Amino acid sequence: MWARVLLPRQRLVSNNHLRRAIMSVPNGASKPQDRSNLVPFSSRLKEGRALAEDVWSIYNVANLPSDCINLGQGYMNFAPPKWVSEAANTALQGIAENHYSHPKGRMRLRQAIKAHYSPQFNRELDVESEILVTSGANEGQYSVFVAFLEQGDEVIMFEPFFDQYLPSVTFNGGKPVYVPLHPPKTEGKNTSNEWTIDLAELRSAITSRTKMIIVNTPHNPVGKVFTRKELEGIAALAEEFNLIVMSDEVYDCLTFDGKEHVRIATLPGMWDRTVTVGSAGKAFCATGWRVGWLIGPPSIIRPTLAATTRIVFCTTSPLQEAAAAGLEQAEQRGYFAKQRAEYAERRKILTDAFDKLGLTYTLPEGSYFILLDISNVKFPDDYPFPASVLGRGRDFRACWFIAIELGVSSIPVSEFYCEEHANIGEAYARFAFCKDTDTLKRAAERLQKLKNYIQ
Ligand SMILES: Cc1ncc(COP(=O)(O)O)c(C=O)c1O
Repeated sequence: MWARVLLPRQRLVSNNHLRRAIMSVPNGASKPQDRSNLVPFSSRLKEGRALAEDVWSIYNVANLPSDCINLGQGYMNFAPPKWVSEAANTALQGIAENHYSHPKGRMRLRQAIKAHYSPQFNRELDVESEILVTSGANEGQYSVFVAFLEQGDEVIMFEPFFDQYLPSVTFNGGKPVYVPLHPPKTEGKNTSNEWTIDLAELRSAITSRTKMIIVNTPHNPVGKVFTRKELEGIAALAEEFNLIVMSDEVYDCLTFDGKEHVRIATLPGMWDRTVTVGSAGKAFCATGWRVGWLIGPPSIIRPTLAATTRIVFCTTSPLQEAAAAGLEQAEQRGYFAKQRAEYAERRKILTDAFDKLGLTYTLPEGSYFILLDISNVKFPDDYPFPASVLGRGRDFRACWFIAIELGVSSIPVSEFYCEEHANIGEAYARFAFCKDTDTLKRAAERLQKLKNYIQ
């Protein structure tokens, strides 16, 4: 048998390795090395609350009683339209449809996006250079950050913000900068339009390191649909300071009461600096399909394509076909108008319930969330709360209490704020109404029990 001959350097390395592996204990015995954390993970995970147990895991159905009605996480409890899921079934029977797509997205979907969105952007979108299909809106946004952020670049987001922005920015070396959406000043009924921005505050948040502003309209969790005037104000600052605007418009098909959805990319000069984000998951009740898209100028789409190609290469091919079928047929079927009316009915079930309780809430003009003011909801301090909600905002405990005692889950809104401003969010719980009317009616009934806990 050949003995392995070690060179001096190798011998040293090998001995050190051995020494590290066997740690001496005082009585001379040795104990095995702790192998639970041999290689430290990347320091980028230490920022942006990336390792904290997120709100979706805490208020997950798995942690709540099985009969708890889930108005927490924003996914539907109904299926995508039949004619869309049938297109997915058909695609699954094909050959090319089951294989890699072009990283830009399947041509059929890019064509469908072009046909659907060109009139809304007042331009003929180019399927080769101005549209990029992504793995849901989330991955699309992440890829924009990869493509554009340098270490220390600042990204402005209005607070409260969709929680994924934070780690996605910090993972890519960016520094989140928060500008408040100011809550309504009056008690009682108010609308999402009463959550306001202060352009002077936005201006003073801009520094020489600012690279990007994220605008989310219709907004999660507030339901605000930014007005043309507000967007013009943001656009003027983006022009003045040469910033990219990431316009997250995943709820573009869900505005109510005739509220106009304005695309910031269509304002004068804004096309060249705006990337607009869309989601088939929101449009076609299929959040698990992970199909989304970005629309923007080649100067933004090209570098973002380089990023998304490395991250996922392409997203699910058969489901891109189905999303294409959805966009192709939506208008002729009156799909989005019908969907809007259905959501308005769902919204009303919850707002009626809150009106009956006499509680203050924000009537959303878009998206599918209602913010309920829970500052007057009282609960016992010594309630058996799990560790995951202790040490967090009061809203975490209130939402837990409501879920366990009333059987309706919601999401604490401080999660959508940075730590310094979490106290503003603590006043609210977010209820999602992307559920069928029967479920919402049952939830509305259960919520009447809140009467017993109002101060
Ligand atoms: C504002 C906002 N942006 C993006 C997303 C993510 O969309 P997708 O599921 O397509 O990744 C969500 C999902 O809840 C959202 O609320």
